[in-house]
Amino acid sequence: MKGKSTEIIGSGYSGNSSKLERYHSINPPIYHASTVLFENYAELRATGQGQYEGFTYGTDGSPTQAAFERAMTELEGGYYTRAFPSGLLAITSTLQAFLQAGDHLLICNSVYGPVRRFARNLLARFGVKTSYFPADIGAGIEDYITPETRFILLESPGSNTFELQDVPAVVKVARQHGILTAIDNTWATPLFFQPFAHGVDISIHSVTKYISGHSDVLLGSVTVNEACYERFHRLCRALEIFAPQDACYLALRGLKTLKVRLQQHEAAALELATWLQDEAAVETVLHPALPGHPEHAIWQRDFSGSAGIFSFVLRPEYDEAAVARVVDSLELFGIGYSWGGFKSLVTAGKFAQSDISRYHDRWMIRLNVGLEDVADLKADVQQALAKR
Ligand SMILES: Cc1ncc(COP(=O)(O)O)c(C=O)c1O
Repeated sequence: MKGKSTEIIGSGYSGNSSKLERYHSINPPIYHASTVLFENYAELRATGQGQYEGFTYGTDGSPTQAAFERAMTELEGGYYTRAFPSGLLAITSTLQAFLQAGDHLLICNSVYGPVRRFARNLLARFGVKTSYFPADIGAGIEDYITPETRFILLESPGSNTFELQDVPAVVKVARQHGILTAIDNTWATPLFFQPFAHGVDISIHSVTKYISGHSDVLLGSVTVNEACYERFHRLCRALEIFAPQDACYLALRGLKTLKVRLQQHEAAALELATWLQDEAAVETVLHPALPGHPEHAIWQRDFSGSAGIFSFVLRPEYDEAAVARVVDSLELFGIGYSWGGFKSLVTAGKFAQSDISRYHDRWMIRLNVGLEDVADLKADVQQALAKR
């Protein structure tokens, strides 16, 4: 007769119950695991020799994570995908994978802000030099390339100001110089822009946004082409990078409804953006799908849709107090960071991040258009603008 503690440890789930294996739920199970059990000593030994094909430990991922990663690889048309604990970690880990002391990194100037902080505070300490180029540079990227340039990070459209990059033009120059390119593809999602079809080597997502879609998940993903696989995989192993399993599950679930959610976000945002162009307080609306956007032709050529987030610039006579009155008067828009979720959100600020941006020093309001009725959102923005 075994003791009570032994009985408890062995009870309920043995780890290889054939009844559980036959349970085919429509969604994958979520595994909460650090330890993964082996069948026998031979399997254990095979892991030590790098010859075991299954999962060896929690940091290896799980069938749930693998299902999400496989889905991303297929949707992006890449070779291999790895999930990361956040979008920012996906970006910074990618830079770590492909850069070393003495290298030069080029980043578009409208990149997601915290990436600059990483380059300044961390990459610089490890001997990697970073410089920034105007988002609309196109083939002019040639002028920014030095003999040490190894990597170009694109984000199209860019955060907050929504400038589009001529990705094929940048990629063509990069390839001539043997430089790798990566893109933050979060805005477009795999549905509206296909980085690999445009020659980009690496596609990165903040899965936190549209893919998960409900503002309750932090997750990132990196998809690489075959040529980048070895080096990238080496980094994943060196860091034993892992992703929260519940987040992988929710991200895979989010993918199933991504298209219908995006269609709604897209239509509502376009309606709001189009209407805002004629509002008295608004100088310009920054939305790539509007015909007046400076890179609209690039959007038409390269993208098959647009997302639900855009900004507008107030006329110069409106100061910070006016911005605050508008933001505080909004009733349906939560004041908060991030985007891609069901609820409409607003952020605002002076775009001071880079002195080479065409919107430098201007007050902007950014709207993340959620899934509310667009007529209600429009009425809300209208009454808030009236309080300026
Ligand atoms: C364009 C873009 N990329 C990356 C990130 C970072 O994603 P996460 O919040 O998952 O770290 C954000 C976050 O707002 C973003 O807007």
